[in-house]
Amino acid sequence: MTMSRLSPADPNSYSRPDQVVVSSIHLNWDVDFPSKIISGTATLTVDRKQDDAVHLILDTRDLTIKSVKDEETGQVLQYTLGEPHPNFGSELKIALSSDAKKQLKVQIEYETSASSSALQWLAPEQTAGKQHPYVFSQCQAIHCRSLVPCQDTPTVKMPYTAEVSAPSELVVLMSALREGQQEKGNRKVFRFRQPVPMPSYLIAIAVGALESRKIGPRSLVWSEKELVEKAEYEFSETETMLKTAEELCGDYVWGQYDLLILPPSFPYGGMENPCLTFVTPTLLAGDRSLADVIAHEITHSWTGNLVTNSNWQDFWLNEGFTKFIYKVEVMQGGKSIWRKREKLREWFLYDLEWESEYHPNLRDSLKYQNDSVISKFLMPSILLQYIRTRGEKDSLTCLVPDLTGVDPDDAFSIVPYEKGHTLLWYLETLVGGPDEFEPFLKAYLDKFKYQSITSDTFRSFLFEFFVDKKKVFDAVDWQAWWHTPGMPPVKPEFDDSLAVACKDLCKRWVEWDITKDCPFRKEDLNNMSANQIREWLAQMLEEEPMPVRKLEKMDELYSMSSRNNSEIKFRWLRLGLKAHWNDQADEALKFVTEQGRMKFLRPIYRDLYEWKDMRKQAVSTYEANKSSMMHVAAYVVAKDLHLNE
Ligand code: BES
Ligand code: ZN
Repeated sequence: MTMSRLSPADPNSYSRPDQVVVSSIHLNWDVDFPSKIISGTATLTVDRKQDDAVHLILDTRDLTIKSVKDEETGQVLQYTLGEPHPNFGSELKIALSSDAKKQLKVQIEYETSASSSALQWLAPEQTAGKQHPYVFSQCQAIHCRSLVPCQDTPTVKMPYTAEVSAPSELVVLMSALREGQQEKGNRKVFRFRQPVPMPSYLIAIAVGALESRKIGPRSLVWSEKELVEKAEYEFSETETMLKTAEELCGDYVWGQYDLLILPPSFPYGGMENPCLTFVTPTLLAGDRSLADVIAHEITHSWTGNLVTNSNWQDFWLNEGFTKFIYKVEVMQGGKSIWRKREKLREWFLYDLEWESEYHPNLRDSLKYQNDSVISKFLMPSILLQYIRTRGEKDSLTCLVPDLTGVDPDDAFSIVPYEKGHTLLWYLETLVGGPDEFEPFLKAYLDKFKYQSITSDTFRSFLFEFFVDKKKVFDAVDWQAWWHTPGMPPVKPEFDDSLAVACKDLCKRWVEWDITKDCPFRKEDLNNMSANQIREWLAQMLEEEPMPVRKLEKMDELYSMSSRNNSEIKFRWLRLGLKAHWNDQADEALKFVTEQGRMKFLRPIYRDLYEWKDMRKQAVSTYEANKSSMMHVAAYVVAKDLHLNE
């Protein structure tokens, strides 16, 4: 076997799109639940970029390649499969026919392995309905290669089509437009078409006993039938969010915008798969208080899915931009009556103090902002905490890290989100504010749509757009922003007026001398929204651990233990773990087995690990559950628990 070399343009891919590039994909798949295998063909249309290029180089991971041929001529093509790298998989090197055709169709017959890192297979007992099996994918960042042999780098964009056969009682969904279905014996074949060129990491599939409800003119929400009504209510603001985003970003080009509520083991809050955002069921709070995650995923329809980071080192171009634009959306709200951002404070007070009976319409249109806005405008002290745990010199705390030899799953953190949107915020202040910056954002999206770009391309366009600001931008410490670890070089002024109530209540609990009378009342939380309660708990998590007796009192007064909002529950459990409260340890162990969202799993497992008496139990809980966790979650939690070291 030959040594495989990673691409000079993308340290996480073997592919060489500069030589031969994939320009479209057709998938023909059979989903087999008993063997946990997807088998079939991937037909790649490839264009020779260099006349003397004789190889098509693809990424694969745990795939069994059965044959490779030129689809038009039927000619068998020779290939070699490189040594597998534990994170990056194997290079598949296909020798192209020597007739020097500019374009050809390479058909690869293959199957996935039962342990494909992109797929989570669930037995019927692991689903809400308990009757049927389920499978779903998560390809970002570099897992598509364990589902499709492909150029698994976000630099390459292509449209795709698919035909997928599954047991006829199940529904197949993909990140594409649904083009119909056909019975074939006891199987059903579903057809899909994604006409917009997109990177491989956005290929997605889910198969299960799924139902849908219409929630907007271009939106259905899909889930198992047990959850579908709850989901319909929770995400009913989707169309308002889409319109808000369109006002800022331009037309929505993907046609449909559906949501799929996944089983609890889905490892992320949301994933912006085109035409079909994947969502964790932990957002189903019952009061729409967590639905703002949808606005984030909608925003990716431009930042990420249209203008794409050209490799994972520039990931902030996806997430930092998305977070920045999401904030603008929340503050502007979409309706023309929305105030501009500088008026946020006034707007919020207005919102709190004016009751719906006075202004029913206004109140209505304010709905999706009023509850979610709170924690989003604080200077991210979580960033500070993260950077401290990681170490202020850790190169992965750079906004544009060097990922040579690094798995993007290990690099994933809040840094690209927080540092990234803070940079944009800072640049906005330099050009004079939102009225100047928003036209730039629109122009940027328009200019680079359907492309993949690097941070340098963004910067060049910034200079180009604001011709008269050259001096100002020359003075920006780009080296520090992009390539220096630790906190951002500039701390912007965030308006934290919305968190005053949360901070006050936190301070009072911290300062309460437990030997004195309890000054707290059941009613303390009455006027606080779900997100204010979440923020109040976040504030207390930053303090020294509380005595267990205080937490017991809190629970008695505010019924904290019976709250089901996942963000509140998560922080409440952590507060208990920090205080070494035994009862909460059992609850926390339950919480990490009931759902698999890494944002919740990881800190709780780390807290349990830190608490020496609980360490053993944390590890045994992990060991007992890892087979029902998604690959990426099991992989990172093992590191959090210092296993295999
Ligand atoms: N694209 C990300 C999720 C992701 C990132 C998956 C990297 C795999 C690798 C998605 O848009 C996201 O950021 N989700 C967040 C929610 C958001 C509101 C911050 C999450 O999952 O928590
Ligand atoms: Zn995102």
